[in-house]
This record gives sequence, C-alpha cells and structure tokens, in this order.
Amino acid sequence: MSYELKEIIGSRNSSLITHQPSLILGIDTSCDDTSAAVVADGKKILSNIVSSQSDIHKKYGGIVPELASRRHIEMIWPVVEEALSAAGITLDDIAAVAVCRGPGLIGSLLVGCGFAKAAAYAKNKPVVAVNHLEGHMFSVFLEGSPEFPFLSLIASGGHTSLYIVNGFGQYTELGRTRDDAAGEAYDKVAKLLGLGYPGGPVIDKLAQEGNPKAFDFPRAYVPESFDFSFSGLKTAVKSAVSRQSERPSAKTHIGPSAVNDAEFIKDIAASFQAAVVDVLVRKVEWAIVKKGIKRVTLSGGVSANSELRRRFKEMAEDRKIELFLPSIPFCTDNAAMIAAAGYHHLKAGNIAGIDLNPKAHLPL
Ligand code: KG4
Ligand code: ZN
Repeated sequence: MSYELKEIIGSRNSSLITHQPSLILGIDTSCDDTSAAVVADGKKILSNIVSSQSDIHKKYGGIVPELASRRHIEMIWPVVEEALSAAGITLDDIAAVAVCRGPGLIGSLLVGCGFAKAAAYAKNKPVVAVNHLEGHMFSVFLEGSPEFPFLSLIASGGHTSLYIVNGFGQYTELGRTRDDAAGEAYDKVAKLLGLGYPGGPVIDKLAQEGNPKAFDFPRAYVPESFDFSFSGLKTAVKSAVSRQSERPSAKTHIGPSAVNDAEFIKDIAASFQAAVVDVLVRKVEWAIVKKGIKRVTLSGGVSANSELRRRFKEMAEDRKIELFLPSIPFCTDNAAMIAAAGYHHLKAGNIAGIDLNPKAHLPL
C-alpha cells in the first residue's frame, strides 16, 4: 500500500522522532477488547482491529479481570500483526507506538503497555502514553474536524463526564457522574433482567419495541451542576422489577434465567433508556446555553445508542449547533482513537520512557 509520508515536526527532546513518517500504531487493552490500529496524521485510519472478549465474559454478567488479562496476552500479538498487515506496513514503518496507559483494569493495561514498550524498544521507536478518555475525546477526529472550543460528552462503561475542550491537552471538566457511569447503568439493568453483558446494545434493541412512558423512572438533574447520577435510576428499575415479580400471576422474576415476560422487559428497557437519554441531552443543552459553545462531540460506548444519537441530532438541529458523532465502531473501545490522540502527543514531544507503567485510575 502506498502512503505519502509526512514528517513530524515540533519534537522537543527525542532524537527518535525526527524525520519519521506520521504512521502511529495504536494499542488499547484497557478493558475487555484487544485492539490495535494504524492511523496516519492522527485522522486517516489505515486499519483498526478489535478482538472482542464478550463471549468469555457474557456468562458472568460482567468482566472477570483475570480472564480479561489472560485473553489480552493471547491476542495482543495476532491483533497487532493483523493491524500492520491490513495497513500494508511493518513495525519498521511506524513513527511511534501509542498505548492506552489508563484508566482501566490494571492487569489488562499491563499487557498493552508491556507489549508497546517491548515493540518500540526492539525497533528503536518512541512510545507515547494516552489517557483512555482522551482517546474517546479524539475519536471524533477520525471522521471529522471539530474546531475548538467544543463541548465533549464522554459516556462509557466506566465514565460519564462533560468537558470543554479548548485545544489538544486543554480540557476543563464541567461535570462527571457522582456514582454509576451511564454504560454501567445499562450493564447493571441488563444483568438484573438476565440479558447478559454488555447491556447497552441489547437494551437499545429491546427499547425500540417498548413503551418509553410505561414507567416514570427518575431523572436526576443534579441542581446547578453539570454532574450526573444514575444509581437512583438503577434502584428504581430494580424496584419495578421486584414489584412485578411479586405479583401472584407474574411470570417475571429477578434472575438471569427467569425473566420471561417479554412485553414487560421491553417497556422497562424503553423507560430506562428514555430516562438516561433525557438527562444526557438536557445537561449538554444546559452547557451549550451556559457556556455559549455551539459545538458538541459525543463519544464512548453509550454514544452508539440509537435513541441518544437520534435525540442529540434533533437537539442539534433545533439549536443550530454542530454535532460530531463517531460512527458505531469508533464509539466503543478501539485503538484508532488511541493512535489519533497519540499523534498529538508525538507532535508535542510527549514521549514516554521505558519505565512507563499503566495506572488503573488516571485523571484526564
Ligand atoms: O467505551 P466503551 O467501549 O468502554 C469503556 O470505556 O467503558 O463502553 C462500553 C459501554 C458498556 O457499558 C456498554 O453497555 C455501553 O458502552 N454500550 C451501549 C451501547 N453500546 C455499548 N450503551 C447504550 N447503547 C448502546 N447501543
Ligand atoms: Zn472506553
């Protein structure tokens, strides 16, 4: 494959990054997907390979960290090889390896970071460390070019946060969840209904056939704050399911195998989803008004949600704001977003040392 090589300029201190082409090998092993990608100039995707572990974790209703790290060890090299071969390059052609350093599961992160350092050391290439949230934030640059400043809502399984982004590395957090992340609420409600893991896609699908007004679930609009809260909603869903299962005629019971009242489950899914989406849309709408910023990006696994996407598009049209939404494969975890953010670190000369260690908790 031919690609016009560009030089990276603006390096601060590393002799490794002079006159290198801008092909970045991205690696993400933060959670339960092993992913590697090759991205040029921080935006052109040459390959993006994701090996999902959901079949392994499904039966447990959530991720088993030890199983996740073992699977990453098995998959990291095949996935990287596939990403390089799909891009038509070898490790010799890359400018740098960008790796997710955290936040995430420590055992999983260790596999990615260890691999990235070994590969870079063997080939005398620099390593750049990327925060997973920064990766999600920059996933929108893979398919668009939002101008700064913009509002960035990241809604995933581990985080739900709203930022003002003034430039690369210039992030002001407006608010975050005070308890469960939006995706975590989806996963917990799915587990309660016996729908398996991950919960988002299956609830999204069932909700399309349910009545969003069947249950009046609470919307926690934390007053005068951009913070979110989803644990009360989860408890309300749990109570509704308990009430239903206590009815003498009920066919529905809490527990993975016993929930079989299809209409009830669809209505719960639709009503729960309506509550999550209402809160996310309204908080961002409030930020648009309060901060006077008419550009919004959505990212993270929950931004794959069909109702959330529909409602945000509707709101963007009504308020005449620019909306940037990644296409579905770039909403959930992927290494292309790590390479996209890594490119900017490389340009800024933010090179990690061979002593780079992952961090389970890593603020942006
Ligand atoms: O960004 P991501 O892949 O991993 C984290 O960084 O956490 O997000 C995964 C989360 C899971 O909680 C999953 O249930 C949720 O994203 N998710 C969805 C949808 N697809 C994935 N939530 C709602 N609707 C979806 N279609
Ligand atoms: Zn993620």
